[in-house]
Parts: sequence; C-alpha cells; structure tokens
Amino acid sequence: MRSTSLTLLALVVGAAAAVVDYSSACSGFTPTGIPNVELTNPPTYFHSNAVVDISNAYSSINESTLPAFCRVELTITTNTTAGSTALAEVWLPDNWNGRMLTVGNGGISGGVTVTELGHVAVPQGFAGVSTNTGHNGTTNEGAWAGPGNDNAIVDWGWRAMHMTVIAGKEVIKQYYLTPAKKSYYLSCSNGGRQGLKEVQEFPDDFDGVVVGSPANWWTHVQSWSIHMNLNVQPSTSPHFMMEDTWKNLIASEVLKQCDALDGLADGIVSDPRNCKFQPETLLCSSGQNVSTCLTEDQVSALRNIYSDYYEGNEYVFAGYYPGGEADYYHGLVGKTQFKIGRSFFQYMVINDTDWKIHDYNASVLALVDEINPGQGNAASPNITAFVGPQHNGKLIHYVGYADQLISPGNSIHYFESGGYGANAFGAVEQASNSNPPLSNDPEHNILSAIVRWVEEGIAPENFTAAYYIDNDVANGVGFTRPLCKYPSALKYKSGDNSSADSFECVLD
Ligand SMILES: *[C@@H]1O[C@H](CO)[C@@H](O)[C@H](O)[C@H]1NC(C)=O
Ligand SMILES: *[C@@H]1O[C@H](CO)[C@@H](O)[C@H](O)[C@H]1NC(C)=O
Ligand SMILES: *[C@@H]1O[C@H](CO)[C@@H](O)[C@H](O)[C@H]1NC(C)=O
Ligand SMILES: *[C@@H]1O[C@H](CO)[C@@H](O)[C@H](O)[C@H]1NC(C)=O
Ligand SMILES: *[C@@H]1O[C@H](CO)[C@@H](O)[C@H](O)[C@H]1NC(C)=O
Ligand SMILES: *[C@@H]1O[C@H](CO)[C@@H](O)[C@H](O)[C@H]1NC(C)=O
Ligand SMILES: *[C@@H]1O[C@H](CO)[C@@H](O)[C@H](O)[C@H]1NC(C)=O
Ligand SMILES: *[C@@H]1O[C@H](CO)[C@@H](O)[C@H](O)[C@H]1NC(C)=O
Ligand SMILES: *[C@@H]1O[C@H](CO)[C@@H](O)[C@H](O)[C@H]1NC(C)=O
Repeated sequence: MRSTSLTLLALVVGAAAAVVDYSSACSGFTPTGIPNVELTNPPTYFHSNAVVDISNAYSSINESTLPAFCRVELTITTNTTAGSTALAEVWLPDNWNGRMLTVGNGGISGGVTVTELGHVAVPQGFAGVSTNTGHNGTTNEGAWAGPGNDNAIVDWGWRAMHMTVIAGKEVIKQYYLTPAKKSYYLSCSNGGRQGLKEVQEFPDDFDGVVVGSPANWWTHVQSWSIHMNLNVQPSTSPHFMMEDTWKNLIASEVLKQCDALDGLADGIVSDPRNCKFQPETLLCSSGQNVSTCLTEDQVSALRNIYSDYYEGNEYVFAGYYPGGEADYYHGLVGKTQFKIGRSFFQYMVINDTDWKIHDYNASVLALVDEINPGQGNAASPNITAFVGPQHNGKLIHYVGYADQLISPGNSIHYFESGGYGANAFGAVEQASNSNPPLSNDPEHNILSAIVRWVEEGIAPENFTAAYYIDNDVANGVGFTRPLCKYPSALKYKSGDNSSADSFECVLD
C-alpha cells in the first residue's frame, strides 16, 4: 500500500516536470549577463528524430535519430582589445541527465565538434559543450595562425576552451533554471591535450575527465613527428618502405616476434612493452629476392622508428610500439608528409610558409620549447589542485598501443585509430564512426565509468571493449576484450578466444 502511494507521488512529480515546453523555451532563449558572450544565431529546437544536418570546416553530423534538444550557438570575444572571437555551441537535451559534457578538438582544427555533441552527449542525456578553438579550419591546415596571429594561437592553446566551459556552465544554468550537478570532459589526441591543460590550469572546470592518447607534450610530439617523417622521406630514398612492405613483410615479422607473448596468437600485440622488435631478422641475405626482405638502410630506419628519440642528450619522445604496422604507413612513416607537424612549424614556430621538413635541424627543438606556441603544452605533472581533497576530481587516461600518430610511450612517460584490437568502449570518435559501446553501463562505456567514479566513488578497474567486424557495428561483434589498468597487461587464460571472459589483466 505504502509503496503504491510512493509510486503515484513520483508519477505526479514526473508529470509536473514534463510540463516544460522545451520547444518554446528554446526558441525564446537568450542567455544574459555572461561577459563577452553573445548568441551567434537564435537558438534552434530539434524535435526527436528531426533531421540534424550540420557541418563546419572540421566536423559534421547528419542524423535523424537524436532525442529532442535545443542548439545554442555562441560567439565569445576572447580578447576585447584585439576583437578576437571563438565560436561555441551548447546542445541542451529535453531529457537532461543534470550533467554537462565538454568535448575537444582534433589536431589544429577549428570547428565545433558537432559530431560528438550529437553522437555522444545528447543521446546519453548530457548537455554538450564544444568550441571551434578560436578559428575555422580543418585538422591539418595552419594558415589561420598567421604567422603572427597570437590571439588565435592562444585561443587554440587553451583560452577558447576555458572560456567556453565557463560560458557553457552559465548557459545550462539559465536554460534549465538550475546548474549542472557535475561537469565532465571526454576527448582524445589534441583533445586529450586540451583536457589535461584544463586539469592543470583550471582544475575547477571539470569534475571528471577522460583523455585518450593525449598530444599533451605538443612541442615534443610535433618535433618527433617531423623526425619520424624524415626516417623514411623522401619516398625515393633507399630507406623508404612501401605500404605492402609494412602491411605484409614487417607486420608478419612483428606478429611472429610479439603476438603470442600474451598467450594467444590472434594478430593483436596486447602488451608491446614486453616485445623488443628486432628488424635485423628481415635483412636480405645475398641473392635473396628483395621483395621478401629489407636492405640495411631500411633496417636502420626501422631501428630508429621503434626507438625513443633523443636530440643530443635531450629526450624528445617515445618511438612506435610494435603492433600497429598495418596503419603506420598512414601515420608518420608513409609517403605523405604529416601536415599537422609541418603546418605547426611553418605558421607558429619558424614563421616561414616555405619551411620544409627537410629544413628541420637540432636547433628547432630548443626553439619550439622556448616559444611553446599559445602555451599549448600540457605537460605539468602537478595535478594536485584537480585530484586533491579540495576538488576531488577524477581522471581516466587511455591509450591505443597501435596509435600511428602519438606514441603510447608518451602516456607512460607522463588517439584514436580504428585498428584491430577491441576499440569500442564509449570514447569520442567511436559511436560517430559506427563503433558504439556494447552498452552504456560503466563496464562498457568509459563516460558512464567516470560518472560513477565522480558521483559514487567507484573507480573502474578495467573495461570490456568490443571489436565489430571490419570496425562496423552493422557487421556484428567480432570479439570482446578487457582493457586493463596500467601497468597490468592482458593475458589469455583459456576458453572462447572471442570472449572477454577468457582473458585476465595481470601484472608482469
Ligand atoms: C544528409 O542526409 C540526407 C538523407 O540521407 C541527404 O539527403 C543529405 O544530402 C545529407 N546532407 C549532406 C550535407 O550530405
Ligand atoms: C589582446 O590583444 C592585444 C592586441 O593584439 C595584445 O596586445 C594583448 O597582449 C592581448 N591580451 C591578451 C591577454 O592576450
Ligand atoms: C568562423 O566562421 C564564422 C562563420 O561561420 C564567422 O562568423 C567567424 O568570424 C569565423 N571566425 C574566424 C576567427 O574567422
Ligand atoms: C613566430 O610567430 C609566433 C606568433 O607570433 C611567435 O610566437 C614566435 O616567436 C615567432 N617565431 C620566431 C622564430 O620569431
Ligand atoms: C579462436 O577459436 C576458434 C574456434 O575455436 C579457432 O578456430 C581460432 O583458430 C582461434 N583463434 C586463435 C587466434 O587462436
Ligand atoms: C620476387 O618476388 C616477387 C613477389 O613474390 C615476384 O613477383 C618476382 O618475380 C620475384 N623476382 C625474382 C627476380 O625472382
Ligand atoms: C636550423 O633551422 C633554423 C630554423 O629553420 C634556421 O634558422 C637555422 O639557420 C638552421 N641551422 C642550421 C645550422 O642550419
Ligand atoms: C602542486 O600544486 C599544488 C596546488 O596547486 C601546489 O600547492 C604545490 O605547491 C604544487 N607542487 C609543486 C611541487 O609544485
Ligand atoms: C575487471 O575488474 C573486475 C572488478 O574489479 C574484476 O572482477 C575482474 O576480474 C577484472 N577483469 C579482468 C579481466 O581483470
């Protein structure tokens, strides 16, 4: 009897809450009194399953499966003297879970990350927040930076993100008439850098942060990217290796040396830290057909590619890990020059649009570290203000061992590739690329895991990730695997090799 009336009461409260007409609330919404912030356009209301077809220079979405939400577009003046601006958006779902989720940006891109607002934030009930970082542009192109456009560079480095988070919190409070109870962040790569910069400089902005393969030591990762290019470039040189050589010859030798160390020869190098790949075994013997072996020059290039890189005595960055060979050609050691690194040096460091990667020399590392464009490095190890008792923030940091752009050794010293491991666990660029988490519970969805850690104090031990056949959910699940908490590593126990239950996380 008692429980029946409680249930009824809850229904009445629920009905009262549902009276809000979000459609009119949205179209009449004008945030007020937020310094340096104004509406770019009147807010737009999207009914559930309406066509959401939005694109900018960096990100796009075209879906008709989203729940109802209000799209608020903001222009933030980042420096009133200079009149510099950043664009930002806040997507406010009717069915709000009471939380804010900010997402980051890839490379040196300029564009609100609409794809993650639509594929991650809104469907899970978060009010989603994102910035264009102060300029419009693609992931690779640096011409917006001038040279000499200091305000845009600082906006990219940290300012646009911080101001957007402040604005986002205020917009949410004014729209729902109550502040978000918690503030979260989820991103990878340059977006990982942005998240760590926030944790280090503005510890109160977020309660829970998830960063993947962060490009946080930006000056060093870009120096390293040029060095990695130079290990094989130009493609006419004797140390260049063709895509087929990477995919077939080198990949199979790596698997031969490294795959079974975790107890299962399944084509996935689960713990590459334990495998010191020896490329010498591929060296041509006299008379051998060169399409089945490598020359001295190529072997020597590989030794560099898999080694930590030093400039003199100074540590620059970790080398590639064995296991990602099928992708590495499309990363830093293929025919194509890595445009993010080159643009960065051309427009923000050397200030010479004709600068070429072959102009790179030993003095460039000291120069870039001294300039630290836009104060973009997020390498301070002191995150006490964020994780300490006063703020009690939580941080989950993941890496892909087969990352072809940012060596995972960086994360161990202090992304996101499709790849062939289990790579769907609710992080950014997964749901938007047909790799959604198996479910939204904290074991399968890293965003739910950080929420539970922040709000219930239960820290995740591991995740169960899925690999969909050909990286597409439409083809069904190929296998599931645990993602282990560093420094433990994945080992095969026994049983069905496509099930996460057959594996364990062990300390070596
Ligand atoms: C979005 O999808 C619809 C339906 O598939 C299509 O007609 C439209 O051209 C797409 N928009 C863009 C910008 O590609
Ligand atoms: C704002 O821009 C002006 C003009 O470019 C510049 O002199 C000033 O240092 C900038 N202020 C900040 C805080 O970046
Ligand atoms: C970015 O593009 C928008 C139009 O979509 C424009 O209003 C804004 O001024 C641009 N920002 C910069 C920094 O050029
Ligand atoms: C290149 O331009 C940027 C932005 O104005 C500046 O910070 C940097 O010091 C310049 N580099 C050199 C070598 O002068
Ligand atoms: C996984 O198990 C299947 C079925 O038992 C077997 O055919 C396959 O060879 C196994 N794969 C590996 C890598 O052991
Ligand atoms: C070398 O191997 C390739 C690929 O297997 C083959 O097409 C080619 O004919 C061989 N060359 C010689 C000289 O045997
Ligand atoms: C090294 O590169 C810098 C920047 O491009 C250039 O100014 C300098 O002259 C170069 N040094 C040498 C020794 O080539
Ligand atoms: C680390 O940061 C905390 C909080 O900001 C500060 O009190 C402390 O002095 C810093 N520690 C070091 C070693 O710099
Ligand atoms: C994952 O963590 C849970 C909870 O601590 C534990 O029961 C389970 O054994 C762990 N799984 C692996 C593969 O280590």
